[in-house]
Amino acid sequence: MKLSPLTLFVLALTTSDVAAFVHNKPAISSRVSPLQVTRADLEGAQEMIDKILLERNCGPVMVRLAWHDAGTYDASIKEEWPAAGGAVGSIRFEPEINHGANAGLAGAVKLLEPVKAAFPDVSYADIFQMASARSIELAGGPKIDMKYGRCDTTGPHQCSKEGNLPDAEPSPEGKYGGPGGTASTEDKTPNGHLRKVFYRMGLNDEEIVALSGAHTFGRAYKDRSGLGATETKFTNGSKQVRADGTEAKYNPGGSSWTERWLVFDNSYFTTMADSKADPELLKLSTDKTLFDDDGFKPFAEKFRDSQDAFFESYAKAHKKLSELGSKFEPVE
Ligand code: HEM
Repeated sequence: MKLSPLTLFVLALTTSDVAAFVHNKPAISSRVSPLQVTRADLEGAQEMIDKILLERNCGPVMVRLAWHDAGTYDASIKEEWPAAGGAVGSIRFEPEINHGANAGLAGAVKLLEPVKAAFPDVSYADIFQMASARSIELAGGPKIDMKYGRCDTTGPHQCSKEGNLPDAEPSPEGKYGGPGGTASTEDKTPNGHLRKVFYRMGLNDEEIVALSGAHTFGRAYKDRSGLGATETKFTNGSKQVRADGTEAKYNPGGSSWTERWLVFDNSYFTTMADSKADPELLKLSTDKTLFDDDGFKPFAEKFRDSQDAFFESYAKAHKKLSELGSKFEPVE
């Protein structure tokens, strides 16, 4: 049988990535959760996830899915797990999946259902976080030191309250966030709002700026967040290449923050800082504030000037985000 160059690429990548996975021995024992997940299950799930990512070029929405599962976390809530929210897989249930901030994410959960069906002992919480980390790695971003064995929430009664995720633009009354969620995040300024949201999770200014750099990847859609344009010259079906240099097929639409929005690099920061950047590229209020606010600016400038510095901070912050509120069994 003659294999196409893409199939050969996928096979080669999968084999070497799984080897790296085994070689790096992630922090998992052979049986780590009540689901009895094994290293072989995790390797199998990763192989399937890699194929989905490479066939569909759906990495960005997977990163958003995992972040919206984890980003509900409220560090001040000390009641029994999973009351504080976080990376607990609750985003797959209604009502959480129907929260305004999660528009468009039901499709991402659906794309991952075959992975859960094939590897039922891997939790949804792990599958979402694995899909996100692999998206970034396959798109040329940093290797993320992931840990697996998360327990899953079991029903809608364990969903997070609506209102814990950040707003990119103010309401018509000029306010970001609001009194909803587990703590008010209402603020008249984008920087004040970002701090209320991310400090609630236990994250700091450097982590806010680094994680915002994930917008180097992907698009905003009018029929999801309502932001950006219907399409731009970078998203209208024109050529997009992946990190491996191959051309990527994608469904046209939306506005991207960067020109090469299927590659994970520091171009979000170089573009945001550039007043002459193509006006068809997206700059949301919560993005622009990273170069205006005195606490955020030094990090934004550092990440603009050094992709290595961005990758180093990003990988650490991503790992921390991916473990917020998670219960690992046994606790490691
Ligand atoms: C700092 C506060 C943040 C705000 C206000 C924000 C807001 C948004 C908005 C409005 C969209 C467009 C959604 C759509 O229309 O489909 C979006 C997309 C996205 N966000 Fe964020 N976000 C933030 C932080 C983050 C973080 C921390 C991450 C990950 C670490 C992230 C990753 C993404 C990705 C990858 C997309 C593209 C999704 C796609 O192409 O389908 N964002 N974000």
